[in-house]
Amino acid sequence: MNEINMKHIPRHVAIIMDGNGRWAQKHKLPRSAGHQQGVEAIRDVIKKASQLKIQVITLYAFSTENWKRPEEEVSFLMKLLVEYLKKEIEELHKQNVMIRTIGDLSAFPERIQREIDKAKEKTAGNNGLIMNIGLNYGARNEIVRALKRIAENYKEQTIAFDDLTEEMIGSYLDTSGLPDPDLLIRTSGEKRISNFLLWQIAYAELYFTDVLWPEFRGEDLVEAIVDYQLRQRRFGGLS
Ligand code: FPP
Repeated sequence: MNEINMKHIPRHVAIIMDGNGRWAQKHKLPRSAGHQQGVEAIRDVIKKASQLKIQVITLYAFSTENWKRPEEEVSFLMKLLVEYLKKEIEELHKQNVMIRTIGDLSAFPERIQREIDKAKEKTAGNNGLIMNIGLNYGARNEIVRALKRIAENYKEQTIAFDDLTEEMIGSYLDTSGLPDPDLLIRTSGEKRISNFLLWQIAYAELYFTDVLWPEFRGEDLVEAIVDYQLRQRRFGGLS
């Protein structure tokens, strides 16, 4: 913690939480136990991110591709999300955390959508950390949805051809209003982006760690930020 420069904290940290299954396998437990333990990591990371005054943490919890997993695993992940929101919402609210989501929620059962809406409504007035959860999220799907709305608005003549700019496209994405991620972390040793925030990570620093997500803790987040602070970001210019 001493090594961290509090004046140079990334505004937005995005995390691909990977390795739950391998953690479970290592402990001779079912995959569900890995996801359950992954919630402990989320709890600790959110607490640390709030302390560090990070503005946004985006967590890739369920991708558009995760529907391909066995039905039992998909429904366990849904159950875990609802339990998490029910159990943790008071504590998150006390921590001044605002819940947001990215992804197409219309694919989820209504009961789950209601629980997500409740958590968002309760925390809508908070101005601390934004906990942004990727749910049925895929960057290509997000871009397609944005383009369809842009085309519709063009047809209705609420936007003109010359309005089309990078900022305008950004405002149609699910992350509208949020700063782009400064740092993208992927756990478990895999070095892939897996359809996560493809537009928004154009200039993000990438950090890969071998730590499996269920074992990731606040101190690992600090380690990633210390590494980020050693990088020279040039955004295509010269240093
Ligand atoms: C990737 O590990 C993890 C997921 C697909 C799910 C992440 C979900 C959680 C941590 C918990 C639920 C979320 C919330 C917000 C309460 P993997 O299963 O692909 O691991 P493996 O590659 O080792 O098999």
